[in-house]
Amino acid sequence: MGFTRRKFIATTALGAAALGVSTEPSRAAAPSGSQAAIAGPPQHPVLISKVTGKRSLDEAYEMLLRGEDTLDACLHVNKAQEDDANDDTVGLGGLPNEEGVVELDSCCMHGPTRRAGSVGAVREIKNVCLLAKAVMQHTGHVMLVGEGAQRFALKMGFPRENLLTERSRKIWLLWKEIHSNEDWWGPGLAAPDWKPPVPVPPPPKTSEEWRQRFRKLEQMAAGLGIPPADRRHAIDRVLHPPTGTIHTSAVNTKGEMSGSTTTSGLAWKLPGRCGDSPIIGAGCFTDQDIGSAGATGSGEENIEVAGAHTIVENMRKGMSPVEAGLDACHRLVNLYHGDMNKVRFIDMVYYILRRDGAYAGVSLWSGSAEHPRRFAVCDGKGSRVEKTVALLEGESIDWPPIPKLPKE
Ligand code: GLY
Repeated sequence: MGFTRRKFIATTALGAAALGVSTEPSRAAAPSGSQAAIAGPPQHPVLISKVTGKRSLDEAYEMLLRGEDTLDACLHVNKAQEDDANDDTVGLGGLPNEEGVVELDSCCMHGPTRRAGSVGAVREIKNVCLLAKAVMQHTGHVMLVGEGAQRFALKMGFPRENLLTERSRKIWLLWKEIHSNEDWWGPGLAAPDWKPPVPVPPPPKTSEEWRQRFRKLEQMAAGLGIPPADRRHAIDRVLHPPTGTIHTSAVNTKGEMSGSTTTSGLAWKLPGRCGDSPIIGAGCFTDQDIGSAGATGSGEENIEVAGAHTIVENMRKGMSPVEAGLDACHRLVNLYHGDMNKVRFIDMVYYILRRDGAYAGVSLWSGSAEHPRRFAVCDGKGSRVEKTVALLEGESIDWPPIPKLPKE
């Protein structure tokens, strides 16, 4: 006889009692000594996010003071970036895949109900952070992708929109015009026979070679009708394809926690590629007994170390938020056996919030003196930007490496 899910749920409490197992959260079930004591909830709400989220953190903080849900506060921050056509790393105006189609990823976790929702490779739906919540609330699933996710969104009343703005379309065209074999096709960093395809380090940006490269790109951008004020940004996006993304985690004074991550993913990716942002445990993980964490950066590597889950589990064992994040960064380095010719192509920032309000932004690389890696936080002292604690000094190099200029 089959054993239905409904019957399982109905008999769980009885079965647990018979086995002498508590149905209380994992804190009670954890073997003694395996979980560090974490102080009670903070006296003020705390939110942590990518720097771009700072503009909405004060409003989200007010939501938490009014007693609104922690997930809704996180979504308020992330949705503002999805709605902003000038943020070309998420939602409307996000940089597209190699075919010029915007595909969005998002996931969320709601601590109070211990539920999660996720969507991947979604086209023509702008607010995928809200769509991930709708999957959580209105389906028996955790993750929907591609066409199915889009059809679900339309049924739920999300509008169908063209997400490719003129600005992003022209940056994509500039990339199309100069892109070479050094794209996402072929073996990646993780392939055993991978060789750095450009001299490492690349030519300094002060060299004549660089200046020529830049002038050529400026001419091509002008030829595509990219306005002068936008040309430097467009060239930067082509030479350094962003992984984009925003993550926000929140805790309120009751100790309720949630997290949300949303992205247009890696610019110029292969269609259908999902990074870490829709993967529960990689781009976002929340267990309100312990804390919440999220990531922005190299999605492929972060999936392989289950970054956000690793960090929360590290805090469960007693590590501080900084220690927990640095351990995840060590794991990124170990993926490539410490080979710095590969590690230098990985970029990562972790956003970490513990149940008691302790927080940290931790990055693999420190960034430069002028552009250090940073994160945004909001607590009883207001919203601000702080520098991350980094495992490695210096800057990462973007992968795929700098495209060659087309032949004259
Ligand atoms: N971390 C975002 C991505 O890799 O898509």
